Amino acid sequence: MTLEQHLSREFLSVVEEAAIAAARTMGQGQRRYSDQVAVEAMRKAMDALPMRGTIVIGEGERDEAPMLFIGEKVGRQLPEHPEVDIAVDPLEGTNLCATGEPNSIAVLAAANKGGLLHAPDCYMEKIIVGPAAKGAVHLDATPKENLQIIANRLDRQVKDLVVIVLDRPRHEHLIEEIRSAGARIRLISDGDLSAGISAAVRGTNVHAVMGTGGAPEGVLAAAAIRCLNGGMQGRLVPTKEGQEERMRTMGITDPRRIFTERDLAPGPEIIFAASGVTDGAFMRGVRFFGHGARTSSLLMSFSDRMIRFVDSVRFDGTPDVVVEF
Ligand code: FBP
Repeated sequence: MTLEQHLSREFLSVVEEAAIAAARTMGQGQRRYSDQVAVEAMRKAMDALPMRGTIVIGEGERDEAPMLFIGEKVGRQLPEHPEVDIAVDPLEGTNLCATGEPNSIAVLAAANKGGLLHAPDCYMEKIIVGPAAKGAVHLDATPKENLQIIANRLDRQVKDLVVIVLDRPRHEHLIEEIRSAGARIRLISDGDLSAGISAAVRGTNVHAVMGTGGAPEGVLAAAAIRCLNGGMQGRLVPTKEGQEERMRTMGITDPRRIFTERDLAPGPEIIFAASGVTDGAFMRGVRFFGHGARTSSLLMSFSDRMIRFVDSVRFDGTPDVVVEF
């Protein structure tokens, strides 16, 4: 049995549990607490799984995160279980959850050992596009050049394109360049991972994501992008002391290297699972109905070429529970 057949449904449950835990705290203005409950729920659900899992992208380094830190072993860890590398973001968009805004998700990616890049918790410069522009854009090209290529590949004009950019002072110049090239911009306060997924799906009216966001989100986005046949390039941006050294100990010798989606998530088998905490483009947020919860998730596997939009209802066994469509 492949890893994907063996563990896809189990990983779906893991993100659903994390999303439910985080959604209980939605709108309470406590982003760290929301993150903490999602982490705890994800860790608990993951530990019941028949695997020898290692967290390769997590909540940070061992000394700064109590759970789901880089290098942590998860799962039942019996000798007969498969070895699995896991990237997690138990709550992507902590602010979005704390304020009840759209697009916060619980998310993970899993692959056979070595199937996901081991990267430090730094920043990543990214460009993400859909299948039509895969392999055609380049991180070192100007936004104007990349936009023209995307427009040509999509058989439209640059003014018809929508680019998502994180609303940060560091993007002032990028935003100016995109605007002067004639494309339209959707500025987001947080959540460049969901944005990246949107760019790889036709019909979302998002044609690219550009700019610098978290490296963990970058590796997770690459896993999703491979399942969706989109294109991505990323370059790590160390900003804190010690991060460049950490990159070297993780085997990244060229700090300026441009990674493609395949370099970031090289696994021949990849599972990507995300569950909505608040409403988003593909997934609705968690809905509670007294005796249970309804979740909306995206489950993808790379080698199986399978994309599932999953609506799950959990209820607590009350005999007279009513499930609505
Ligand atoms: P959190 O869920 O950890 O709060 O991250 C949200 C996010 O907006 C990511 O989507 C993005 O990659 C990163 O933060 C950008 O970092 P920064 O807020 O430091 O610019």
